[in-house]
Amino acid sequence: MTKNIDKIRKAEKASHIEIYSTAKLFESGSWLAKPVKTIIDILPLFENYQSLDVLDLGCGVGRNCIPIAQKFSNIPCRIDCVDILDFAIDELNKNSIRYNVENSVNGIISSIDEFKIEQNKYDFVIAVSALEHINSEKAFESKLKEIENGTKKNGIVCMIINSEIIEKDKNTGKNLDAQFEVNLPTSDLTEMLKKVFVNWEILKQTIVSQRYDIPRENCVADLSTNVVTIVARKG
Ligand SMILES: C[S@@+](CC[C@H](N)C(=O)[O-])C[C@H]1O[C@@H](n2cnc3c(N)ncnc32)[C@H](O)[C@@H]1O
Repeated sequence: MTKNIDKIRKAEKASHIEIYSTAKLFESGSWLAKPVKTIIDILPLFENYQSLDVLDLGCGVGRNCIPIAQKFSNIPCRIDCVDILDFAIDELNKNSIRYNVENSVNGIISSIDEFKIEQNKYDFVIAVSALEHINSEKAFESKLKEIENGTKKNGIVCMIINSEIIEKDKNTGKNLDAQFEVNLPTSDLTEMLKKVFVNWEILKQTIVSQRYDIPRENCVADLSTNVVTIVARKG
C-alpha cells in the first residue's frame, strides 16, 4: 500500500507544533521534562575525549543535545542537530542560548532523508523517535547504512525506533492510519539493525511495549508501539 507521505508529514508537524508550543523544555509534566536516560548513561564513555562530534537526528527542541553540550562544555563539542520542523529549530536555538550552549549546537532545518551524513565524521550519533519518519523503508535502510558509515571508529550510536505502531481514535476505538512513514514489524526492524551493524559491539538492545495518547488532526489517538532501543559501538 502506498502511504500518503504528505498527509503523514502534515499530521506529524501539527502534532509537534502543538506539543512544542504548550510544553517547555525541562519543565515537568511532559516528555520534554528530561533527556533520555539511555543517552545520559552513555556520556561517561566519552569522558577522556579531547573533542566530540555529535549528530542528533530529529533533535526537536534540544531535550537530548543540550545536556550533551552542557556535559562537554570543557572541550570542543559540536552537535549537528537536524529537524524537519523550522519551529523546532527556532525553539532549539532559543533553548541553546538559554542554557548557554549556543556555541556547540548547530541547528539544521532539514528532513533526515535529505541530510547527507558525511563519512567517518561523528563520535556519537543519536536518533530518538525520528528514523521512523524517513519517507520509505528503502530510504530508512540506506540511512542506517549512512549512519554506520558516518560514525568514527569506536564511535557510538543510540537509536530509539518505534515499530508495529497501531493508532486508534481514543473516543470511538476506530483504527486510524498510523502517522509514521516507516512502520516495520518489530522482528524485521531488529533483523535490519543486526545486518547493518554487524561487527559492532551491542552495548544495549531492548524492546519495550508502550501506549500513550497523541494529538492528531481531528482527534486524540491511542497509540501503541514496540519501542526498539539499540546502543552500539563501532569496532
Ligand atoms: C518525537 S520527536 C523527538 C524529538 C527529540 N529526538 C527528542 O527526543 O526530544 C520527533 C522529532 O522528529 C522530527 N521529524 C519528524 N520527521 C522528520 C524528518 N523526516 N526529518 C527530520 N526530522 C523529523 C519532528 O519534527 C520532531 O521534532
